Amino acid sequence: MAEKNHPWYMNAVFYEVHIRAFCDSDGDGKGDIQGLISKLDYIKDLGVDCIWILPIYPSPLRDDGYDIADYYGVHPDYGTVDDFKQLIEETHQRGLRIIADLVLNHTSDQHPWFQESRSNPESKYRDYYVWSETDQKYRDARIIFLDTEKSNWTYDEKAGMYFWHRFYSSQPDLNYDNPEVRREMRNVMDFWLEMGIDGFRADAVPYLIEREGTSCENLAETHAILKEYRQHLDINYEDKVLLAEANQWPLDVWHYFGNGEEFHMGFHFPVMPRIYMAIGKGDATPIHWIMSQTPEIPENTQWCIFLRNHDELTLEMVTEDERQWMWNKFAPDPRMRLNLGIRRRLTPLLDNDPRKILLANALLYSLPGAPIIYYGDEIGMGDNIWLFDRNGVRTPMQWDDSLNAGFSDADPEDLYAPVINSEEYSYKKVNVASQIQDPDSILNKMRHLIAVRKANPVFALGNYEFRSEEKTECLVILRHYKDVNVLCLMNLTDQKQTLNLDLSALINKRMVDLLKYETYGMVQTDPVKFEVDPFDFAWIRFD
Ligand code: GLC
Repeated sequence: MAEKNHPWYMNAVFYEVHIRAFCDSDGDGKGDIQGLISKLDYIKDLGVDCIWILPIYPSPLRDDGYDIADYYGVHPDYGTVDDFKQLIEETHQRGLRIIADLVLNHTSDQHPWFQESRSNPESKYRDYYVWSETDQKYRDARIIFLDTEKSNWTYDEKAGMYFWHRFYSSQPDLNYDNPEVRREMRNVMDFWLEMGIDGFRADAVPYLIEREGTSCENLAETHAILKEYRQHLDINYEDKVLLAEANQWPLDVWHYFGNGEEFHMGFHFPVMPRIYMAIGKGDATPIHWIMSQTPEIPENTQWCIFLRNHDELTLEMVTEDERQWMWNKFAPDPRMRLNLGIRRRLTPLLDNDPRKILLANALLYSLPGAPIIYYGDEIGMGDNIWLFDRNGVRTPMQWDDSLNAGFSDADPEDLYAPVINSEEYSYKKVNVASQIQDPDSILNKMRHLIAVRKANPVFALGNYEFRSEEKTECLVILRHYKDVNVLCLMNLTDQKQTLNLDLSALINKRMVDLLKYETYGMVQTDPVKFEVDPFDFAWIRFD
């Protein structure tokens, strides 16, 4: 049921990979590009369409590569630019696509531009960054890395001035008021696009421009720059995608779609914590509410929806009470918290209960948008809260039960991070090789879910309607696209639930269970009764 009239990303499933963590081909203890290439068939078999890789550029790695020292190279840990070209080719040969991070807002302080900027007031690079004599400007801008940074300004001895940074002080913000900076970043885009990359996940886009008296987020000038980049893309390339990382409310992210002339896609951040909330409380209300706050978006633009990623599970867009509830429920140990979030993986958050893990995924796939799966979550990997910052959710992928989980031949001490070997989540139990064999494994059930979702574009393209909203123990969504209707039933509780649904608008249609391949009776005028097991779900199509 391929949908020819829609751009590829509309009905795509994404897979987020951290190359460092995925597979080590040369035995140095760090994952690399050749390692990823050797696992492309695995990714293909998962049924996803597009890989998103975290930054691979030369970097001092003070923010795991989001601090870039050279936009035109590959970090030696990962390989070479030629390896990257091969990665693109091999990805495409398998009918997959690949997008990379584009870090626009800031560079590393090790970038030659910044080195020149701080040490030479005469050089053109001085104006590449945001310098000030005082640290009192832009006081209305919030601090994002609350646990580590006290101010968005840091004094630089060499320059004798303060520089502006929205993230770590090792990540000075570029000055987007400078047309040369804008041009530089356009050249960066061209470099990778010409190599064949399918697009970018644009990092931290709300913060490009600063203006006094504002929050320095989402400014009109920032949108104008992003629209320029999109226009450049449209004029010069085909079939590429730009995905916005704006950790904001849907009504704010909505502006990043423009009228379909800014980003193709944008992450939907605040639905994510509410999926955990809904399952944790056995209550669909948080989902009803956040979707009521989610505007329609222009044609051929798409939300990107996710359960987890490489960062902390952000709790910026919940109320104070909800945040406290989430922290108590999901991060009882202070080590599990970071900034305004939770630094844990999906599986431990959901009590390592396969029912809840699959329910969370099914819930995600029942919503409009294109889902992203974070590497390792498809096998139920655990985390390591003893590692610093967000590293606890970036541990080596668990391929099998051999030494280092099949991730690397290095001496275990030389791994960039230890493999998970706790009693409950040890790689000896949780790994790809054993799950491939087991038809009931999370991996195989995830593959099945992905396949069914992909085969039914109604999930990605259709509109939605909540049903049975008064019975909040269940989330009931009717998805509709052209003449296709699919009913998504999700039981958020640990009790069996009965639903009596008025489906008279679908009278005389036959009910087909998409996941079990079973056919039920025809819809009659009377309410249709469904029984859903604890934490279970069903997708029913009306044929
Ligand atoms: C984004 C990335 C995060 C990084 C930050 C600064 O939020 O997801 O990992 O630390 O940008 O680049």
